[in-house]
Amino acid sequence: MTNKLLVLSIVAALTGCNGSSVDKQAVKSADIDKSAAAAPATIHPEIWPKQSSPIARDPQQEQQIADLLAKMTLEEKVGQVIQADIASVTPEEVKEFHLGSVLNGGNSAPNNNNHSPAKDWLSLADKFWIASTDKSDGGVGIPALWGIDAVHGNNNVVGATIFPHNIGLGAANDPELMRKIGAVTAKEVLVTGIDWTFAPTIAVVQNDRWGRTFESFSEKPEIVASYAGKIVEGVQGTVNTDEFLTNGHLLANVKHFVGDGGTKDGIDQGETLSSEEELRDIHGAGYPPAIQSGALVVMASFNSWHGNKMHGFKPMLTDVLVERMGFDGFVVGDWNGHGQVKGCTNVSCAQAFNAGLDMFMAPDSWKGLYHNTLAQVKSGEITMERLDQAVSRILRVKLRAGLFDAGLPSSRTYAGKFELLGSAPHREVAREAVRKSLVLLKNNEQLLPLSAKSKVLVAGSAANNIGQQSGGWTLTWQGTGNKNTDFPNGASIYQGIAATVTAAGGKVELNEQGQFTTRPDVAIVVFGEQPYAEFQGDVTDVDFKPEDSLKILKDLQAQGIPTVSVFLSGRPMWVNPELNASDAFVAAWLPGSEGTGVADVLFRSADGEVAYDFTGRLSFSWPATPTDVELNVGNADYQPLFAYGYGLSVQDAQDMAPLDETLDPSLSSQNDSRYMFAGDAVQPWRLALNDKAGNTQVTGNAQVSASAAISVKATDYQAQEDTVEANWQDSARLYIRGNAVDLSRQATGDMAIQIDYQVLSATTGQSNLFIECETCNGELDISQSLQTKAGQGWQQSQIKLSCFGLSNEQLTSIITPFGINSDKGSKLQFKEIKLVSNEGAASCSL
Ligand code: BGC
Ligand code: BGC
Repeated sequence: MTNKLLVLSIVAALTGCNGSSVDKQAVKSADIDKSAAAAPATIHPEIWPKQSSPIARDPQQEQQIADLLAKMTLEEKVGQVIQADIASVTPEEVKEFHLGSVLNGGNSAPNNNNHSPAKDWLSLADKFWIASTDKSDGGVGIPALWGIDAVHGNNNVVGATIFPHNIGLGAANDPELMRKIGAVTAKEVLVTGIDWTFAPTIAVVQNDRWGRTFESFSEKPEIVASYAGKIVEGVQGTVNTDEFLTNGHLLANVKHFVGDGGTKDGIDQGETLSSEEELRDIHGAGYPPAIQSGALVVMASFNSWHGNKMHGFKPMLTDVLVERMGFDGFVVGDWNGHGQVKGCTNVSCAQAFNAGLDMFMAPDSWKGLYHNTLAQVKSGEITMERLDQAVSRILRVKLRAGLFDAGLPSSRTYAGKFELLGSAPHREVAREAVRKSLVLLKNNEQLLPLSAKSKVLVAGSAANNIGQQSGGWTLTWQGTGNKNTDFPNGASIYQGIAATVTAAGGKVELNEQGQFTTRPDVAIVVFGEQPYAEFQGDVTDVDFKPEDSLKILKDLQAQGIPTVSVFLSGRPMWVNPELNASDAFVAAWLPGSEGTGVADVLFRSADGEVAYDFTGRLSFSWPATPTDVELNVGNADYQPLFAYGYGLSVQDAQDMAPLDETLDPSLSSQNDSRYMFAGDAVQPWRLALNDKAGNTQVTGNAQVSASAAISVKATDYQAQEDTVEANWQDSARLYIRGNAVDLSRQATGDMAIQIDYQVLSATTGQSNLFIECETCNGELDISQSLQTKAGQGWQQSQIKLSCFGLSNEQLTSIITPFGINSDKGSKLQFKEIKLVSNEGAASCSL
């Protein structure tokens, strides 16, 4: 037993709580280590399902491919296997380098504007199409494919219908509904002239620490396998029928092949140490049905399996996927994923190509990669045969998708029908999905369904926030920075409640803080996780770090007002205190733009009948402790709070006794992206002061540093004591301190520290911002900015992590993610400090 586990076990034994889960953790880690040591890092293709492609090769198309190959120059062939991001490539370059494809990453959009109108997407699609098909240089002019992450609707485009994220759809357990969602999504993508969606994700997530848990339908392979084919069918049309990839359909893309949901500790892009059987039966379960439904693109995964990065792993990309599973499309890479293969860089990776990666996703690295790949073919490192094979696969998919005959994007059937984005019938499908995704975890005294004639208070910071209820991959990569007006066709959960209640003659009051003018019959409190995507959502445990929601619930409860919690999250979380403070509790996941679907289920119809019962059932086990992160049904020692498949119906008269709320402080881990909220350090970060006499930790509402060079006190801005005010009498530092967190990937990902502050006055002396590791300090001079901003009111600044001049290595162990030193005369107020994705506003100055 390692020291850490020993300590945890002792703590557990002493406190008598969390014991089982801690022991379970220990058992599991040991198991993993054993299997890691025992499992050889080889694949036995013969144990994988053998099937053949459902799509027969068409002799005429094969002839066309052969003719094209015969005409294409080497340069044209190399260009065909490369995909660039629209933020880093122009239509002219697509033409010049004969690129086979473009994508828009989560933060890339026409005119560099994440809120570009739909017509701009369509006109950019035309530009890329015109450029790629231009034959004026004597080339063959093959139309480029454009791929987009339409992972819950055409979610990059303002006005589109935003569906619940996959975790909610998994709870619906309704494969037919997936087909409808796929079909609607396809139409809304076609409106913008785009040919291909990087969806569905068919990861089977085993560790809920992973930031992409919400992109997974279930921790069990069954639901994922039953959905994979249906979504592909919805998006592409039924294979071998006239509708396949025609009229209203486009290319789907199953991802990420394979083992994405199995990484150790749930670390994004990490290492999967499962056995080969688990890789097949759990993580690989969705691929055979998806291929049987005609999936023609598979995206390679960032993860590795026992040290083999999937992007360069021939046994899986070729021997299993193509030879065993009968996949007859092309394999696309993930965002510079090839660069992580041993011996590769983002601009050079013959290994991945030779292993079976047919198209490189080289967003910003495409040009260097193009030149190097060309050289590698010339030198023989990549054979002509392999290049022809990859190009043929890409051309075959383009032919099957009808791309050669489709014409200018804007001339296609659905293109430009902007009224289809968020159209009433489309939103109705999403609203149905919302209703079916909600899981009722608690309903004491059968509080739900509520009478729509009641007086209802709606509270919580997420109540009227369509951005938050939609989560990551919504208009922006991280899903942050969105306002309700960015969803012209959507409804917040509050708006849905207001419409329902008002129509039935009830009364509704919205107050995020939970105050009211008329005493309500019931309060609905909507709260949960802030949006995130990919590694930015990785956490060390599943404790829901409470903000004001718990206090609101408790205050209401103390006043004898029945409380209904609507919890928004991308993963099951430890919310025992919130559950105790609620009479009814609904896990609503990330429902998307149709907030009204929540009201549909919370309220009785106007005539008092049950309008829609709760039919959602957990597709992920719900944790009994914050460290129950690898809690999966079927585990040897399975002790969830709510088991896989749990979910109440409103008919169930089942009251829940209070739950254990104690959380051992030794288990609470650092929050790597939020440092200060409402003027307080976000636990377990601490706010501290430093002057020439030493360090002082800030506890309570006011504090003075050791030699009184700086003092801080809580003050009011929008709410009581939601701000900390610092007053400098001499040279001193104010900083946030905690256990080291790794911010190196966030720095490479261009993320920034966002500070909400106001400068009441500024010193004429020196002021710096800084971040620190144990033995390093990175500084930024802000003297001038402070002076300029003095007296200018509240400000928000975003400072890129990369501006502090620390090396990647130093950034792996940051103990002070925010600090400021200043001098006599400075008086500053701070409200919130956190890490955010750079959506254009970040810079190197305050
Ligand atoms: C993600 C993929 C996504 C791609 C393009 C990657 O970072 O892992 O799921 O399709 O970016 O945005
Ligand atoms: C892109 C995402 C991509 C990510 C990879 C972001 O800048 O917008 O689409 O998945 O980088 O780290």
